[in-house]
Amino acid sequence: MKNTPIPSQIVQDKFKESGLSSIGGASIREIKRLIDTIEQASEVEFVRMEMGIPGLPPSKIGTEAQIAALQNGVAAKYPDIQGIPQLKQQISSFVKNFMNVDVNPASCLPTVGSMQGGFASFLTLSRIHKERDTTLFIDPGFPVHMQQHKVLNLKYESFDVYNFRGEKLREKLESYFSKGNIHSVLYSNPNNPSWICFTEKELQIIGELANKYDVVIMEDLAYFGMDFRRDLSKPGQPPYQFSVANYTDNYILFISSSKAFSYAGERIGMMVISDALFNRRFPDLKRFYGNDLFGHTMVFGTLYPLSSGTSHSAQYALTALLEAANSGSLNFVEEVKIYGEKAAIMKKLFTDNGFSIVYDMDEDQPIADGFYFTYSYPGFSGVDLLEKMIYYGISAISLDITGSERHEGIRACTSLIRMDQMDALEERLKLFHEHHKQ
Ligand SMILES: Cc1ncc(COP(=O)(O)O)c(C=O)c1O
Repeated sequence: MKNTPIPSQIVQDKFKESGLSSIGGASIREIKRLIDTIEQASEVEFVRMEMGIPGLPPSKIGTEAQIAALQNGVAAKYPDIQGIPQLKQQISSFVKNFMNVDVNPASCLPTVGSMQGGFASFLTLSRIHKERDTTLFIDPGFPVHMQQHKVLNLKYESFDVYNFRGEKLREKLESYFSKGNIHSVLYSNPNNPSWICFTEKELQIIGELANKYDVVIMEDLAYFGMDFRRDLSKPGQPPYQFSVANYTDNYILFISSSKAFSYAGERIGMMVISDALFNRRFPDLKRFYGNDLFGHTMVFGTLYPLSSGTSHSAQYALTALLEAANSGSLNFVEEVKIYGEKAAIMKKLFTDNGFSIVYDMDEDQPIADGFYFTYSYPGFSGVDLLEKMIYYGISAISLDITGSERHEGIRACTSLIRMDQMDALEERLKLFHEHHKQ
């Protein structure tokens, strides 16, 4: 072993103590804990790129509204499960202003993070057609969605979209839909972990096929507005966040407040169901619920037994944040642009030192700089590379746990690295390259 920024004995000892069978195959939280112990023992600060947590303070608009709501006593009162009326109105205005999509306030629901929006949707959608029992993931994806399927004992199929961009996506999706077992599809856009964004053409293909095969599309907009190649920050003005909602009425949108509004700690997200789906009857739902109306079932059949609604005070916070965004007084996109600026610098440091970006294109356009990017180094699997880079004080996660078929890949998150750490990153990447170039 060459001389590395982190003494190899420390890495090996801490790895042994961790009880993990491999570093590269560990979950995000396991890696976080291991790196915490290595940092402590070595007294060397890591460049930490493993966890996708917001690295910015929350907007005061949210916290002040939440404090005021608490002082007004909302903590003592159960919130309505479908959400407070003023929040529902603001969500509806938000999707109109930033997506140019029309949805009634009734079809806009707060959830305990997008995480719960997904859980509730998987549960409900798996019961709308008795002859269909499978969700299709367009991967790579967020590992916790797979975990949710596992704990719910629900079936899913998946494919890596890497080789099926553009028109190729049509045939690939049809090969699944035509089997007749798929009730819904899930993808994130921009994508966690790869940061690819579907083009309008691809979203149109997804929407057309949703109509043709009557499949519900779950569009996870956890990184809403964060395709910084286009200025999506102006309410009521194009360009808008691209969405499948422009091409089908068969959709559910998950809009997280965690990244766009740096409000992850309060666990509040938005579920937006198209009016057509919200008001549609599925007689097969009656096998499990007292009602066959989709929207009613989602609220009173699924969200009610899950958590009986979303934190009352957080709903006031989100109302205030959306109100400010809708009126143009809060430019939420500008506030998070720093992630893209850091990504641009980091990607250059990686590619200057022998690394490649794994998911690098949206059809004919280079991907945006944003919250995540993916990289590889010649001759290494992702799992081995991840492990090796720990000796150089750089931590991330392997793409293996995301449904990606690019087994050489690693996901880097740009949120926690500080601008003043870029020199350290450069030095460490240079040293790694010196030690490993062929
Ligand atoms: C793609 C994706 N979906 C959902 C979530 C969860 O969002 P929330 O914090 O709103 O539950 C995340 C968080 O990292 C994510 O990356």
